[in-house]
Amino acid sequence: MSRSAPVVPAALLAFALTLSACTGGGDDGAKGTPGSPGLRDPYFPKMGNGGYDVTHYGLTLDYHPDGNHLRATAVITARAKQDLSAFDLDLKGLDVKGVTVEGEEARWNRAGQELTVRPKEDLDKGETFRTTVRYSGTPETITDPDGSEEGWLRTGDGALALGEPTGSMAWFPGNHHPSDKASYDVTVTVPEGVQAVSNGELTKESTKKGRTTTTWHTAEPMASYLATVAIGRYDIRRSTTPDGLPVYVAVDPSQAKASRKVLARIPEIMTWSEDIFGPYPFSSTGAIVDRPDDAAYALETQNRPFFPGAPDTELLVHELAHQWYGDSVTPRTWRDMWLNEGFATYAEWLWQEEHGGRTAQQVFDALYDGDYYQDRTDDEAIWAFPPAKPSSAAHISDSPVYERGAMVLHKIRQKTGDNTFRTLLRGWATAHRHGNADTAEFTAYVERQVPDEDFSGIWKEWLYGDGKPGRP
Ligand code: TRP
Ligand code: ZN
Repeated sequence: MSRSAPVVPAALLAFALTLSACTGGGDDGAKGTPGSPGLRDPYFPKMGNGGYDVTHYGLTLDYHPDGNHLRATAVITARAKQDLSAFDLDLKGLDVKGVTVEGEEARWNRAGQELTVRPKEDLDKGETFRTTVRYSGTPETITDPDGSEEGWLRTGDGALALGEPTGSMAWFPGNHHPSDKASYDVTVTVPEGVQAVSNGELTKESTKKGRTTTTWHTAEPMASYLATVAIGRYDIRRSTTPDGLPVYVAVDPSQAKASRKVLARIPEIMTWSEDIFGPYPFSSTGAIVDRPDDAAYALETQNRPFFPGAPDTELLVHELAHQWYGDSVTPRTWRDMWLNEGFATYAEWLWQEEHGGRTAQQVFDALYDGDYYQDRTDDEAIWAFPPAKPSSAAHISDSPVYERGAMVLHKIRQKTGDNTFRTLLRGWATAHRHGNADTAEFTAYVERQVPDEDFSGIWKEWLYGDGKPGRP
């Protein structure tokens, strides 16, 4: 759709022109300033961009597994948060073929991961505008600060996109920061016989001239690090939960046998999770199991988490819990990672407690006493830094964020008792459903809900304090 010309009475138009002349603008509308090239995230300062908010990504991908070649168009709908003369998108690698804004060719240039776009006309604050980027090439695999691989990963028979924390800029241009969530439509064309799976729901499928096209729709807001596409041959199973929620599971054939039993528990785990965390925030669920050449971690990709092989039940519980904590309630910055991992880890503890395993208290005690892991250094590592202040970008997925983050929740439970704690878990997911939240909002939330208890010691020692907290 192109920008429609507003019908303005002549008198008003004259007034507006006078006004813009006064502010230094003119017919060319040159009153905007460039949006900033990063959002100053404490761990990934260049990720994301200032000056606009994305509301929707429309990605059309044409992929050839043989040559690992992608040809794509990204249509990005965004709202200007200031008068904009230029703005950045994050894109790493690939060749940009052209950029238009509101249908008009735009000037652009690239420096590192910044794709700077200069629209022909300045954009007005509050204006919704569409940017189309045509690009192609072989997408990159990005090495994280912690040495793990993300971005575009090859598999034996295709490819897989994983985006936490910075990988999504390897396969589409965008505002790649968790604070800017958007809806998505992803259309993927691959050779007939190959499948493509993404987030959300499959809305269209067709085959023409030996190429199959599928379209996936995500209506609920999604952070770009949770976007995925998995391309290859899969054993696909579709079903529904007892509540009628669609389940879509895609498993690499080599993992099908080992995965069948555990993935058949998705409906049961969903029912258990909804009972504790509250109503499921999305329109479908499922899982993707594949074998990337270079990555061996699971990821809570929205709707259907990714597993690098048949998961065990605890890992499945963990990634499904992330749909509430991480995917629906998303960290405001990468400093707030423990709000994802502490909660998803605590979900595992609760599951075990309620399914004949160790109680959360027993897990807590083992971690505190230093006999949780096989290895002494792992037992010590949990005290390396406080959950709410990871020591650097290389450590945002270390045990102080996961296990010690879960210990913070257990400390809260000890203080409030089980019933209030459950109300807190559920209420937190409700309060920020489909939004973002940070650690200060979490502590304020707990204090508001339970005004008669003093949590300051827990925050000071367990959440923000260096070293191992003393025994109470
Ligand atoms: N979030 C994933 C999980 O716990 C793990 C993970 C994968 C991760 N890649 C990461 C964590 C990058 C931090 C950064 O299920
Ligand atoms: Zn996790």
